[in-house]
Amino acid sequence: MRKKIVAGNWKMNKNLREGISLASEIVNMVDDEVMDDVTVILNPPYIHLESVGKLIRGSGKTYLGAQNCNENDSGAFTGEVSVEMLKSVGCEYVILGHSERREFFKESNEILARKVDIVLEKGLKPIFCCGESLDIREKGTYVAYVSKQITESLFHLDKEQFKNIVIAYEPIWAIGTGVNASSEQAQEMHASLRQHLASKFGSEFADEISILYGGSCKPSNAKELFAGPDVDGGLIGGASLKAKDFVDIIKSF
Ligand code: 13P
Repeated sequence: MRKKIVAGNWKMNKNLREGISLASEIVNMVDDEVMDDVTVILNPPYIHLESVGKLIRGSGKTYLGAQNCNENDSGAFTGEVSVEMLKSVGCEYVILGHSERREFFKESNEILARKVDIVLEKGLKPIFCCGESLDIREKGTYVAYVSKQITESLFHLDKEQFKNIVIAYEPIWAIGTGVNASSEQAQEMHASLRQHLASKFGSEFADEISILYGGSCKPSNAKELFAGPDVDGGLIGGASLKAKDFVDIIKSF
């Protein structure tokens, strides 16, 4: 049985006080209202990690994740944050390859492969993002495009490593636009990605990997999106900044 996961990506939002208040609201609601079989992950900005981590500790249902990391162990990389640092504040997950990092910070599939390696080496779990632009969607080559992202950044891993990967399919045209992929579009891509994983690792193994959907997911559409048999949860942006909306999405399972 693969894990059901809902992760909140706060992106560059909330100051520390606001972040602590949001996290404590979410943690309390999750503890009281959410089924045990859903894993909830909060991914606040780096500087909130320690404070949010303290709130999460002891929750048992909510986990801490970062939004990025550097691909090197340590050293002269001004302004960067290492995986060891993330681990030291209690992070268990790291989002990698978000389309905003690919676009604004020019992260390539090759760099992402290195980030995946160091995250796994330190014992954390990557939430690996993939997804196509509107242009590629309209050309009809989206399955090949997204499969290539997976191949180039993840297919050097062995099964033992890959079982710690969470995949997040986030079509760029759906991120922050209010226009989500339809449940059919999400299911089609998720099933194709699982097929792609099966071609490398076998279908039994591919069946165990959680594939999340991200892009304008909100309380009003989460139930329908999560109903797809290959949709194992969501990576939530805007709606994760309001405790009730985020928890309502989690409860859509
Ligand atoms: P929105 O939910 O705001 O569309 O963002 C999705 C996302 O990018 C999560 O990583």
